[in-house]
Amino acid sequence: MDEWVSRCDSIYEGAERRLREATTAQDVEAVRIQYLGRKGTVAHLLAQMPSLDADDRRALGQAANELKRKLSELVEQALVRAGREAPKAVLAADATLPPLRPPHGHVHPISRTIEEIVDIFRTLGFESVEGPEVELDWYNFEALNIPADHPARDDWDTFYITDEVLLRPHTSPGQIRVMEKRKPPLRIVVPGRCFRRDTEDATHFSMFHQVEGLMVDEGVSFGDLKAVLHIFLREFFRQDVKVRFVPDFFPFTEPSAQVHCTCAVCQGEGCRTCSYSGWVELLGCGMVNPKVFEAVRYDTERYTGFAFGMGADRLAMLKHQIADGRLFVQGDVRFLSQF
Ligand code: PHE
Repeated sequence: MDEWVSRCDSIYEGAERRLREATTAQDVEAVRIQYLGRKGTVAHLLAQMPSLDADDRRALGQAANELKRKLSELVEQALVRAGREAPKAVLAADATLPPLRPPHGHVHPISRTIEEIVDIFRTLGFESVEGPEVELDWYNFEALNIPADHPARDDWDTFYITDEVLLRPHTSPGQIRVMEKRKPPLRIVVPGRCFRRDTEDATHFSMFHQVEGLMVDEGVSFGDLKAVLHIFLREFFRQDVKVRFVPDFFPFTEPSAQVHCTCAVCQGEGCRTCSYSGWVELLGCGMVNPKVFEAVRYDTERYTGFAFGMGADRLAMLKHQIADGRLFVQGDVRFLSQF
């Protein structure tokens, strides 16, 4: 069994020798592929596993994993070294060349989308506030007119930490936190990260982003809600999208609606993004249920309000015509650097 350890040791020594001689990033990459590539030395070693007995297999597995880890470290170090040497080599060759620029990052497309959304609402007089991602049952459900054991709780597939503490599955608790502290008139948006026990696919993620909106004042009507959302969607998609409100149910708004707009990809003609319907579903909204005002001790005779919640990931997908939203979080720089 020690045989595997010494095999791995001698492979490591060979790689070390070759990396010492590698001066450019390309040299290092060639060594990396030779040892760690899909058909490399380590892969070849692991391919022998099925023919071994259990003890040997375990010994090889451990030795090979350790080898992989050590080799990756070596490659990293060699790359850093090559990066330090490269400018010197270029300088020696031609001192009039422009300087080498270090790689430059930029704001993530989802963060950018959230900034855009918040900026548009700011022009409409909405202030941006944030709430905690780890939330209490009271803010997430109870005060939003979703009592314990109410079947509506099933609509939010929530990660619970204890019976009282959870990861928020929507940004609506942000409404309650603000109303508890302030008196109307109120115009706020609450952007933030949300979590659900969802099976991931192209349009469902266990971690995603919402932007909540809330306006409370005397005489706020459903007409105000329609106007605000229509203006927002036209600005966001930078085209004259049509909007329709379809009746829906949320315990914290009454009446409630889901909002569809004409597909910004095909202008309503019908395409893959809108499942050939010409319309896409964007958000939930409605007039604040008086039960919610009661929970935060607002005068239900005097005040009315509207609320909405939109999925920022979904809006980013539509705007950039991305069919699979998982790409946003997989960390592939080739994908992200397009934005
Ligand atoms: N919180 C709701 C959801 O996550 C969306 C919503 C917000 C609906 C505000 C109405 C009002 O599905």
